[in-house]
Amino acid sequence: MSTLPRILVTSAAGKTGRHVTTQLLEKGFPVRAFVRKRDGRSDALARAGAEIFEGDQYALSDMRRAMQGMKRAYQCAPTAPNGLHFNAIFTAAAHEVDLEHVVTLGQWLSDADHPSLFTREVYISDLLIRMSSKFTVTSVNPGWFADNYLMVLDMAAHLGVFTMPLGPGDQKKNAPPSNEDIASVAVAALSDPGRHAGKSYRPTGPELMSPNEIAASIGSVLGRKVRYMDISEKMMSKALRALPPSNYSEAAVSQLAIYADEYRRGSFAVNAPTDAVRRVGGRLPERFESIVRRAVAERSELRTTSLRRVKALLNFAKILLTPALDLTKVQSDRDYVCIPRPKFSQNSADWVTTHQPQRVAQNPVSAA
Ligand SMILES: NC(=O)c1ccc[n+]([C@@H]2O[C@H](COP(=O)([O-])OP(=O)(O)OC[C@H]3O[C@@H](n4cnc5c(N)ncnc54)[C@H](OP(=O)(O)O)[C@@H]3O)[C@@H](O)[C@H]2O)c1
Repeated sequence: MSTLPRILVTSAAGKTGRHVTTQLLEKGFPVRAFVRKRDGRSDALARAGAEIFEGDQYALSDMRRAMQGMKRAYQCAPTAPNGLHFNAIFTAAAHEVDLEHVVTLGQWLSDADHPSLFTREVYISDLLIRMSSKFTVTSVNPGWFADNYLMVLDMAAHLGVFTMPLGPGDQKKNAPPSNEDIASVAVAALSDPGRHAGKSYRPTGPELMSPNEIAASIGSVLGRKVRYMDISEKMMSKALRALPPSNYSEAAVSQLAIYADEYRRGSFAVNAPTDAVRRVGGRLPERFESIVRRAVAERSELRTTSLRRVKALLNFAKILLTPALDLTKVQSDRDYVCIPRPKFSQNSADWVTTHQPQRVAQNPVSAA
């Protein structure tokens, strides 16, 4: 039996959580993986050696049980409404046990005055958990994941288009990190709290890429020409609602539209790429084409046949026929907390300060 500290991974079946779990297991740590339900993903984690904890992450009683006997934890709020609620429950339960270190998954855009409620909640969550004197904290704040582009692989494979509301095709505005590389930074901090306590890291991929380059990489893996098509946020909201597997709530879609706006403003390119994956995660950041290659290899339905092409065309028609969301109304209808003077990231002096190259190089604690 391992004598290493036991680690709780929340959102363990999610994009980063599953890799945090497996990378910790590879290092010999005993891991309790918090999942919503048992399925193929949790079975794979159990086969890798994780203890599976099935429960509701938004229920304090479940989180309390999950924390029992844990020494360290990965705090990862799902991409969903009520992030602050999830994080409050996590923080309350963490205070009741003998935890020594927490790694939080935050956001590159994290700022007190951000227009996105989800992002402000991430910022507040990080402030609250750092108030504890019982345990130390490391924040991992990635930008726009490479995984987001993979949502439209189907359309690229069968219709030859890469559709997203990312602005002009020739402007390099993101250095997309893989889920595995983001996890490697979290795992480094969970493995060695003494070295990483109090620090914030912003993992990125190895290079800034333009939408045209992203389309070309996807095309090169698929063996066909793929053209970038800049679409409106309205069209994005239709696509996210129309096509499975879409688990995005209306609220989440409204926030993604704000993140797409930040993308076009170039916020994810500010002092990117960083060297966090190499320096902290201890590995070379994966190139985007290699991420796409792995995703395509796992999805046999991307191989083109006439039937799949017809299905893709029907899906395209379905997107056009799906009513668009009124993104402003979604927020006002749901009693979203609004602030009087929201600021996009680059208009916030605080955010700009924490993203300066020398601060990034020194692994600053968030300016907050
Ligand atoms: N995507 C981006 O570009 C991006 C960029 C920066 C930061 N982030 C941050 O990344 C975080 C999300 O991380 P991620 O993408 O690794 O996670 P994720 O893929 O959204 O995974 C969330 C997991 O939590 C599970 N879950 C949801 N509700 C639950 C409940 N009530 N009880 C138990 N489990 C529940 C989900 O289960 P099911 O799978 O069964 O539904 C899923 O496996 C967010 O906080 C977001 O702010 C994302």
